[in-house]
Amino acid sequence: MAAAPFHDRPGVIWMNGEFVPWADAKVHVLSHGLHYGSGVFEGERAYGGTIFKLDEHTRRLHHSAEILGFKIPWSVEEINQVSIELLARQGHKDAYVRPIAWRGSEMMGVSAQANTINLSIAVWEWPSYFKPAERLKGIRLDMAKYRRPDPATAPSKAKATGLYMICTLSKHDAEAKGYADALMLDWRGRVAEATGANVFFVKDGIIHTPTPDCFLDGITRRTVIGLAKDRGYEIVERTIMPEEMADFEQCFLTGTAAEVTPVSEIGPYSFTVGDITRNLMEDYTALVQGKLQPAMASSG
Ligand SMILES: Cc1ncc(COP(=O)(O)O)c(C=O)c1O
Repeated sequence: MAAAPFHDRPGVIWMNGEFVPWADAKVHVLSHGLHYGSGVFEGERAYGGTIFKLDEHTRRLHHSAEILGFKIPWSVEEINQVSIELLARQGHKDAYVRPIAWRGSEMMGVSAQANTINLSIAVWEWPSYFKPAERLKGIRLDMAKYRRPDPATAPSKAKATGLYMICTLSKHDAEAKGYADALMLDWRGRVAEATGANVFFVKDGIIHTPTPDCFLDGITRRTVIGLAKDRGYEIVERTIMPEEMADFEQCFLTGTAAEVTPVSEIGPYSFTVGDITRNLMEDYTALVQGKLQPAMASSG
């Protein structure tokens, strides 16, 4: 049975200060955010009724808006409070939380100086980002045609809607070829990230991950770095060239949606699902479920 479309589900969405019936949470077609990509958003997960790293996500939402030159007219504390209330009202324990802020419809054109800033938050049940069976075997990634842009070309530190255009194109191309996702290089041809998750590799017991200088330094990425340190694993953040993937033994993705997902193939390169990947998957699951009290990760 097909899942219910996202525009028509039961319950409420919080929009600009009110809880509105889900199907009524609409925007006008002449909204700047729709035409010019002037929106910022977050993806959060709740586990057992608690939104994991909620405050960090809300702070990043505010920061992304500042990078795009606008201020969200609700404070971090107000957004946190509403998110918690909405999760409870929707009656979900394990769920995905999606706040989005965008420029409205007072002016239409590239300039948007007088446009109001809108904010909505929606919550829905959303189990695994990748198919659970595929996830355990390791997912297969294509090499994306598009690259993460130079920070001098686009505001790469913002979780901004417009930056996802190349992610959707890359993911669609990959899916058409039977892959689960795509690995994107950066503008210099270095390994960057997947279309919605960060990437890690393992070789000789050492974990390697690209330095996030032109893509999102994910909250999950930082959490997993903390968990790896707690386990005593050596972890190196550095430039990684695509040819190096030939020598890496394990690979995994991290992200709020992806959690920790093993990768079995990236283009011509293959990897095994090894102990380090499995241990970090387990630790991450235990952490988000409140069953692990980490030393380093708790500070992240
Ligand atoms: C492009 C991209 N990179 C990385 C991430 C991982 O970020 P986080 O761990 O904060 O969810 C995401 C997910 O939001 C993403 O969309």
